[in-house]
Amino acid sequence: MTLTIGIDVGGTKVAGGVVDEQGNVLASNRRPTPADDPAGTRDTIVEVAAELVAQYPTATAIGIGAAAWIDATGSTVLFAPNLAWRDEPLRDYVGKAIGLPVVLDNDANVAAWAEFRFGVGKQAESMVMITVGTGIGGAIVVNGNLWRGANGIAAELGHIQSVPDGHPCGCGRLGCLEQYASGNALVRFGRAGARQEPERAAKLLELAGGDALAITGRQITEAARSGDGVAMDAFAQVGYWLGVALADLAQSLDPQIMVIGGGVIDAGPLLMGPLERTYREQLANRDRFPVAEIHAARMGNAAGVVGAADLARRG
Ligand code: BGC
Ligand code: NA
Ligand code: ZN
Repeated sequence: MTLTIGIDVGGTKVAGGVVDEQGNVLASNRRPTPADDPAGTRDTIVEVAAELVAQYPTATAIGIGAAAWIDATGSTVLFAPNLAWRDEPLRDYVGKAIGLPVVLDNDANVAAWAEFRFGVGKQAESMVMITVGTGIGGAIVVNGNLWRGANGIAAELGHIQSVPDGHPCGCGRLGCLEQYASGNALVRFGRAGARQEPERAAKLLELAGGDALAITGRQITEAARSGDGVAMDAFAQVGYWLGVALADLAQSLDPQIMVIGGGVIDAGPLLMGPLERTYREQLANRDRFPVAEIHAARMGNAAGVVGAADLARRG
């Protein structure tokens, strides 16, 4: 049984795991990401990998999924809208430090790969996935392979435009989907709503100690579950923008399935209801054609680690 290591590098944590051929995680560890410090992030990745290799010295390769744009050769972090990372030759740095082959890819790509191989996309041949977290990630699987594009940065689905001249995005554009449907956007909607209509945000404000600016994503989920109007609206807005984007993606790519991943799917129907409704409405006038079903991701938090490890196994 070959074991490989997967490492998921996000804005808040670097999570690692030792993974077998069936996608089972045998051991895992995690550290906070020093997000403003690229050298520190790089060294945190090395520490996480070294710790796992020490536990499982037979591991044969390391896969890294990073919340960043990776070059076409899979060696360099080019850019990261939500991290300080620029032009970092990460693959060789980690490879030399650990002495194992390293595969480097985008975080949403590796999460989608895990869903495609072991999760909700197991029976599919083509799949589009959107991950909703601090930012919005995307992945496209065509004929059983991740589509990486000519320059390595295909499927940056968080940076397609939702609102012309809208909210400024970390990528440099205005009005990106990421500014209207990410975890950060959810919080922005919740805070703005609570300031404008405090009486409809009673539960939300109670959870946040009365301070609209202290509202967190988790509090919005909790408040929405107990019927808070502003919190439910925040999910409805995120669901709306995701629904519009998925309709565009169905129209352009016609995949077999569409997958939504990330922490927000814990909100269940509060998010998926408005999302599905918008998706159907957007495509209503062509609904004599079959259209991809939308599914929630199944691999949970481990998706990044499992997907990165599986890509490393494939080399
Ligand atoms: C980045 C992607 C990343 C996503 C999720 C986006 O802002 O552009 O590369 O996959 O966030 O982390
Ligand atoms: Na991607
Ligand atoms: Zn953007």
